[in-house]
Amino acid sequence: MGRLQLPCHPCLLLAVAAVAAVSTAGVRCAPVYRADYLVDSSQLVDMQYHMGPVVSGSPTNLYLIWYGRWEVAAQAVLRDFLASLSAPAPFPAVSDWWARTPRMYTDQTGANVTGTFAVAGEHYDAGYSHGASLRRIDMQSVIRSAVYAYPDPLPLDPYRGVYLVLTSPDVQVDEFCRAVCGFHYFTFASVVGVTVPYAWVGNSGSQCPGKCAYPFAAPEYGGAGGGGQVLRPPNGDVGVDGMVIVLGHELAELSTNPLVNSWYAGDTPTAPTEIADLCLGVYGAGGGAGGLVGNVSHADDGSSYNVNGVNGRRFMVQWLWNPVRGACYWPQRQRLMPPSPSWPPVSCHDGSLHAIALND
Ligand SMILES: *[C@@H]1O[C@H](CO)[C@@H](O)[C@H](O)[C@H]1NC(C)=O
Ligand SMILES: *[C@@H]1O[C@H](CO)[C@@H](O)[C@H](O)[C@H]1NC(C)=O
Repeated sequence: MGRLQLPCHPCLLLAVAAVAAVSTAGVRCAPVYRADYLVDSSQLVDMQYHMGPVVSGSPTNLYLIWYGRWEVAAQAVLRDFLASLSAPAPFPAVSDWWARTPRMYTDQTGANVTGTFAVAGEHYDAGYSHGASLRRIDMQSVIRSAVYAYPDPLPLDPYRGVYLVLTSPDVQVDEFCRAVCGFHYFTFASVVGVTVPYAWVGNSGSQCPGKCAYPFAAPEYGGAGGGGQVLRPPNGDVGVDGMVIVLGHELAELSTNPLVNSWYAGDTPTAPTEIADLCLGVYGAGGGAGGLVGNVSHADDGSSYNVNGVNGRRFMVQWLWNPVRGACYWPQRQRLMPPSPSWPPVSCHDGSLHAIALND
């Protein structure tokens, strides 16, 4: 992604923000990994297991919280993506992508990350229960409101539950569009009643598609221009197709590091580099270098995608770190562009690197 040439490219910044902010702890300056290099070698990547659980429930129950004003068509895209995680579709399917990367992670009980998700409940928070401007910690209150809602509360499911807070395009979130496009963490028993993994993903369509829905909008970054490809979104909605990318990223990380004590690289749990962070911006063979997303597929209508889903849907997902191969991976191994000579990774030296970015 031209990481060194374009140090403010959103995907590069993603990596920096990702290692900086899973918790509310201070931002740390971390090495910027070059995804194009990582695709071909595990050198210098210390992806390690830290003894915690992975998300292994079969099925794992997803509980969706639609926060704000949502259109039916947008919801259908996101529901179909979630259904595609564990349903067959023509190769390469979303379920192939999931089976060949997150599924490869295990915990000390011997359990693998689940291959089966079910949307087990949905809650509409159309009244903006906590306002149209949320802080990170408010996500837990949003979940609390959903599980104590009257009538129709969401189940409180401490065994197999994963909660997804999806905010509509008008909702502002702390650091959204500046440092994050989504994040995952776990609830505190003191707030929600139990500790369960959750993720938040925002619809960036009207706020910052160039940061959080890249490559479906021209990249907004502070450095010199150029390098960013703009692709047509497979479901015709820049904000929602961008959310699919971020949701895939967060689910992969949440499943392999739900309590932030399982799988990550780096030496501090307050700034873990997780399995999707390592492959930011890589969507196909040849991606990750010079601002390229890589070799993806194109539909007859000119839209771009790299995986198939249920109901004839197509989606774009990023590659993920495969622990067996020690490389960024996707269902099918492809020939990749050689790493550029600008390796090794740079350290970030500029506070502005923290200022844009993506997914914790
Ligand atoms: C579980 O993970 C192990 C270790 O990575 C892998 O060899 C195995 O194929 C995985 N099992 C499934 C069902 O994916
Ligand atoms: C890109 O993908 C197409 C279709 O899968 C394949 O034929 C072609 O060889 C790929 N190109 C590269 C550079 O990998």
